[in-house]
Amino acid sequence: MNDRVLLIGSDGMLGRAWASMLRLASVDFDAPTLEEFDLTNADSIDAGITDRHGRVINCAGYTDVDGAEGDESRALAVNATGVGRLADACRRVGATVVHYSTDYVFDGSATTPYATDHARSPLGAYGRTKAAGEEAIERSRCDHLIVRTSWMYAPWGNNFVRTIARLARERDTLRVVIDQRGRPCSAEHLARTTLALLNAGQRGIRHASDGGECTWHEFAVEIARLTAPDCHIEPCSAAEFPRPAPRPAYSVLDLGETESVVGPMIHWRSNLSSVVQRLEQE
Ligand SMILES: NC(=O)c1ccc[n+]([C@@H]2O[C@H](COP(=O)([O-])OP(=O)(O)OC[C@H]3O[C@@H](n4cnc5c(N)ncnc54)[C@H](OP(=O)(O)O)[C@@H]3O)[C@@H](O)[C@H]2O)c1
Repeated sequence: MNDRVLLIGSDGMLGRAWASMLRLASVDFDAPTLEEFDLTNADSIDAGITDRHGRVINCAGYTDVDGAEGDESRALAVNATGVGRLADACRRVGATVVHYSTDYVFDGSATTPYATDHARSPLGAYGRTKAAGEEAIERSRCDHLIVRTSWMYAPWGNNFVRTIARLARERDTLRVVIDQRGRPCSAEHLARTTLALLNAGQRGIRHASDGGECTWHEFAVEIARLTAPDCHIEPCSAAEFPRPAPRPAYSVLDLGETESVVGPMIHWRSNLSSVVQRLEQE
């Protein structure tokens, strides 16, 4: 009977949100470690996905955006080749794949929110490998739901909210870029939204994030207000902080299709306020 969930990447930021949601709902799931299930190891994929698994939730990925610029082949092995193998294995056993992708598959030159069917045009290596992963899933013809998201944060893991909260406690002033615009996304909100989409029978590509949109500067101002209000957040331009990977200037994902099925997305200020109350200390 294929009623078990296989959760891959359960130690990551989003994987932890999925694991606690499934535990709370008393859903039986397998959560293999990286040693047990490695997306770069074809044998471990084939052995790990069995006909007991009806749903395979892939929260794993090579997520080091700057690191990918210097090691694109490693990022490609995880985010595209491995994901394609996973999709083929799921097709063979008849399992549905849930996979996550990113706003970085777009170049950020748009001025209105990116629709799910907008052409992919990644700027950097990470985005290229994630776009290739989406294409590999589509080619496999497995039953799938690809959820693109952006600017993810949680009380745990490596994320902007925890970094800014820590730095704002340590310093009087921080400088944060004001010329990049997007939508933050709480990992817990994303897990719940994905499950609602899945249970509603949604397939193909959907976008999910918190509601509202902002610049990194606006986001940081609110994080500091909630955690260390004495810290002053100054605006600066992305050009003042050159990084190995180019970032899209505008990466607002259109949420229309998702909201028409599961209702309006909770605003980022509300999700953020819930998350900062539970931030794990570094
Ligand atoms: N974070 C964001 O802002 C953001 C935005 C848009 C989309 N996404 C997408 O959302 C998904 C989850 O992101 P996240 O931030 O939760 O990631 P994360 O915290 O970096 O977690 C990724 C997980 O994948 C595991 N992993 C790495 N290489 C693997 C491999 N070869 N085989 C199996 N597992 C492997 C990692 O294990 P180790 O920790 O042991 O390496 C970790 O548990 C990813 O697909 C990401 O591209 C994230």
